[in-house]
Amino acid sequence: MGRAPASFPERILPDVPREKIPASVGIIMDGNGRWARRFGWERIKGHTAGIDAVRDTARAAAELGISELTLYAFSVENWKRPRREVTYLMELLRRFAIDERPEIERNGIRFRTIGRVAELPEKTFSALRETERLSAGNDGMVLRLALNYGGRAELADAARRIADDVVAGTLRPGDVDEAALAARLYDASMREVDMVVRTASEMRISNFLLWQISYAELVVTDVLWPDFRRANLYTAIREYAARERRFGELVKG
Ligand code: FPP
Repeated sequence: MGRAPASFPERILPDVPREKIPASVGIIMDGNGRWARRFGWERIKGHTAGIDAVRDTARAAAELGISELTLYAFSVENWKRPRREVTYLMELLRRFAIDERPEIERNGIRFRTIGRVAELPEKTFSALRETERLSAGNDGMVLRLALNYGGRAELADAARRIADDVVAGTLRPGDVDEAALAARLYDASMREVDMVVRTASEMRISNFLLWQISYAELVVTDVLWPDFRRANLYTAIREYAARERRFGELVKG
């Protein structure tokens, strides 16, 4: 991910005031298959090419001082893809978790995962866990991969943990509120997402972070994920910065 001191975002994006840069960004990386088919290649080539997009985007996000970047890398529905593609993706993830360790370390990135990660193949799971462990003491941007992730599954899992705590007597039913649920999500420290970017034109959320994106701005681009680079992130941020966020309130002034 290269050198990425979160220092002078105004040098990178002089037209966007610092306070208008989103603190937490989520990306639905879509279009890998379409990208590959354009060249007459197998879909899986698009996933390999997508790694370069992940690297450049993460580097640019860290440079801008974005605190958290959450990438939707494998959904609970993705198991329905051909076995060969799933196996390929699992190996790509394992290699990514290992190969990026030096870059993650150099840039002080905190690497995390959310989802039913323990259900991934053992080799992938242990590589991811080790990278999480190695980077846990860093203090830079959180790079979070959503893996075997579903927003509904996350809420169901949180509800089950609430039920367990009520049965154990550590939580009273009357104390179940938004904070109690948020504290039982996969990553309780995750901040609310300010901007969700979706590539490859689809205007859908596809079960991504349902709780954390309640007030997020959605920016859709027709760029296919393997072609996505820092310039596309800057364009999305400019669009986000021009929006008026109201959080259910009336416009002031
Ligand atoms: C969607 O494209 C993409 C995925 C299901 C996988 C995302 C994986 C990567 C970007 C590569 C690995 C990432 C990391 C973080 C190591 P699609 O296959 O649904 O494309 P299509 O809609 O054009 O078919």
